[in-house]
Amino acid sequence: MTIIVANWKMYQPYERAIAFVRDHRGQLEQLIKAPNELIIAPSFVCLDAIRQLLKESPIKICAQDCAPFASGAYTGEVDAASLAQLNCTYAIIGHSERRELCGETDEDVATKVNLLLKNNITPIMCIGETLEDYEEGRTLEVLGFQIDHAIDILKQAQKPYCIAYEPIWAIGTGKVPSKEDLENTFEWIFEYMSDPNATLLYGGSVTEKNATQILKTPHVNGLLIGGASCDFQTLKKIVSLA
Ligand code: PGA
Repeated sequence: MTIIVANWKMYQPYERAIAFVRDHRGQLEQLIKAPNELIIAPSFVCLDAIRQLLKESPIKICAQDCAPFASGAYTGEVDAASLAQLNCTYAIIGHSERRELCGETDEDVATKVNLLLKNNITPIMCIGETLEDYEEGRTLEVLGFQIDHAIDILKQAQKPYCIAYEPIWAIGTGKVPSKEDLENTFEWIFEYMSDPNATLLYGGSVTEKNATQILKTPHVNGLLIGGASCDFQTLKKIVSLA
């Protein structure tokens, strides 16, 4: 099974996001070969309208984050239970942009993993090293540290989850790890998790040009795509390659 996640970040304003789904869902649906999945992660405010559009659709909906609290006085936060009610079957957490811009910690990520799993939402937990870590050969050490905070929760829940390896230096830069680096890193993540519930994704500058090659990497079960997923023709191409 191959999973393609379109992470629209804050690229698509409300009306454009809705129009994208309304105008293109038919063509995208035809390209999805079960059990493969296409998952769209729009901003929070688009979720309800997109849920209405995708009512009978095999295209799945994903949140870009969730609160690290179940409920309460947390102005501006969005709880996992509401996301479940909005048909989000997936949620991205620990994205490097949220770690860097919003100070999200590994402890927050573990708490979110727990809340999502309790609400039967599949977490897509992002991990990845900085350029400095990569250049100094610390990639696996950093990934291990990030995984360790949540590994017990992930394994004990006995529910499906995704680990998205996204080297920070590859996100939005046009750079992707070498074939050899990808093979080594995914082999290591696969062994480290050794869990049939884990689905491994790659993210960072995925395009229609490199998608096929990346998907050939052993243990890579899908792609988390940012910028390129906002262009219909590109997304269509990648979905058809998967
Ligand atoms: P990118 O982003 O495809 O634009 O590099 C990927 C991501 O941040 O999930």
